[in-house]
Amino acid sequence: MTISETPTVEAARAAPRKEGMEGMIAARTAISKIDGLNGHLIYRGLDINDLAERSTFEETTALLWYGNLPTTTQLKNFNDKFVRNRLIPNQVLSFLLALPRRTSAMGALRTAVSASAAFDPNEGDNSLEANVNKSIRLTSSMPTIVAAWHRIRQGLWPINPRDDLSHAANFLYMLNGKEPTEKVAHALDVALILHADHGLNASTFAARVTASTLSNLHSSIVSAIGTLKGPLHGGANEQVMRTLLQVGDVDNVEPWLLNAFEEKRKVMGFGHRVYKADDPRATWLRKLAHEMAAETGDTRWIDMSEKMREVVQANKQLPVNVDFYSASLYYMMDIPIDLFTPLFAISRVSGWTAHVYEQYSNNRLIRPESEYIGLENVPYVPIAERD
Ligand SMILES: CC(C)(COP(=O)(O)OP(=O)(O)OC[C@H]1O[C@@H](n2cnc3c(N)ncnc32)[C@H](O)[C@@H]1OP(=O)(O)O)[C@@H](O)C(=O)NCCC(=O)NCCS
Repeated sequence: MTISETPTVEAARAAPRKEGMEGMIAARTAISKIDGLNGHLIYRGLDINDLAERSTFEETTALLWYGNLPTTTQLKNFNDKFVRNRLIPNQVLSFLLALPRRTSAMGALRTAVSASAAFDPNEGDNSLEANVNKSIRLTSSMPTIVAAWHRIRQGLWPINPRDDLSHAANFLYMLNGKEPTEKVAHALDVALILHADHGLNASTFAARVTASTLSNLHSSIVSAIGTLKGPLHGGANEQVMRTLLQVGDVDNVEPWLLNAFEEKRKVMGFGHRVYKADDPRATWLRKLAHEMAAETGDTRWIDMSEKMREVVQANKQLPVNVDFYSASLYYMMDIPIDLFTPLFAISRVSGWTAHVYEQYSNNRLIRPESEYIGLENVPYVPIAERD
């Protein structure tokens, strides 16, 4: 069923109620496809496993935007544009400097992306060409915004991006001024590929709803960032790490989880609206987290994660999702916990922007209906007669 075929209120009342639009088809897309029963994900027809194994975030972004893998020359030109657009305008930096230090990293990112619209030379132009230019600027500069905010809130001056590093390596460099090892940069690059797109997830839907009103690209991305922030969506990776820290030791995992089940609390990093099998992205992140634990010589977080997975699956049969192993992976890479969700945004912006182009290319206003369940025929009582 498409949004345009929303049933009448009478029919909706008669139908079994499914909150959260579960199972509804609200858009057509040629960007990515999830097979939730078999745990399979493709971007533009390519298997996510092949991309994680062989691609880079830059190449995957070109694939999402242009629909096929770039040639050597196309990728070189694309990378050059990406690198040239890493710096953020000084005015956007001034916005970050003006924010209270307690502002969440996702809040700072949302604010800075919104402010960037005002300084974008293509603001006001909604043509495809202008939107591709805006997307390049946004995707290239979001890591700079996040790293700059992290420095500013510590009272440090932001570090300028380097043009000789990959998107992933440059982000890690801008965070602390140290070039990451090849292994760490590669792990982040793979994580960025894995997070780049995912069907009609909540933040992508938000971006498409905003685009469907013919609002501009920056507004769509601001909507998406605000939606990703919540703990039932992208915010879950931060909550997974906070859970691991709270549990503290592998021996505490089982009692902690049994208590959570008893109290009917959700365990972050498990369950998914679409996947009934393990999320294929989680399989990759699990492998990377094991490799990172071997590299650092500290297996505590991955040991706890594996025990959690065992106990959750034995008791609740819930699959792990993308946010579960990314948490311990990022933590072992020394990334501050509240930057986990901004990292998700730094990657997903490539998918969001691809969906915005797709929405514009065949637009119809997304406007579902609600079922009214309130009172009717309530008489208006003048204020003097209400006591
Ligand atoms: C992702 C998520 C929001 C999907 O939710 P959904 O499709 O609406 O599924 P529901 O919340 O209706 O869950 C169905 C059942 O499984 C249970 N369940 C789902 N995820 C659970 C979790 N993480 N921990 C414990 N129970 C969970 C629900 O309590 C519910 O049980 P009930 O039928 O006895 O009430 C949900 O699984 C969740 O909250 N997970 C934790 C947050 C998270 O990791 N988010 C990142 C997603 S990538």
